[in-house]
Amino acid sequence: MLRVVVMVSGGGTNLQAIIDAVNTGDITNTEIVAVISNNYDVYALERAKKAGIEDVVVSPKDYSDRAKFNEALLDKVDSYNPDLIVLAGFLVVIPEAMIDKYENKIINIHPSLIPSFCGTGYYGLKVHEAALERGVKLTGATVHYVDKGTDTGPIIMQKAVEVKEGDTPEILQRRVMEEAEWKLLPAAINKIANNK
Ligand code: GAR
Repeated sequence: MLRVVVMVSGGGTNLQAIIDAVNTGDITNTEIVAVISNNYDVYALERAKKAGIEDVVVSPKDYSDRAKFNEALLDKVDSYNPDLIVLAGFLVVIPEAMIDKYENKIINIHPSLIPSFCGTGYYGLKVHEAALERGVKLTGATVHYVDKGTDTGPIIMQKAVEVKEGDTPEILQRRVMEEAEWKLLPAAINKIANNK
């Protein structure tokens, strides 16, 4: 069984897609051992609770400086002895010590076709705003391994999504989630869990 820790910062629709895929058997050989959030007040924590998964908050607000927060975050992750750490809308920069310790064991979902619209400042709705501003006709999502850069690690899977006339960032975000993210992230986890 692949022991997976999912890290979240918001609504947790990608977390939900993973939970659902484990329940339906689309992901096999996998146990979600914990959900870690950097925010207290997020719906992702409710989703974990409803699924009977241990949920925990490690918030920078509870620590006097970043180094102490980073240390606490790594300690918490270590406590679950994970085989894979999934960043599912986790909007905190991962501490270097964690990247060193979990080399090739951290994956991230990003809502564009990397290397487009990625890197510092590109997250959530901002990605789709930038894509629409540039006038791209095709966007999508990417699952990649996390290295020390921002969105620079090796790509595992990508899926393209069409941009349509009249799209707003919100409409485009929803389509990218439905057509790409919620399928891609479970598929990538299943692939890793089954050594494919
Ligand atoms: C998702 O669209 C994810 O791709 C994005 O945040 C959203 C989280 O939604 N992540 C990034 O932009 C990372 N750079 P969710 O909480 O509903 O899964």
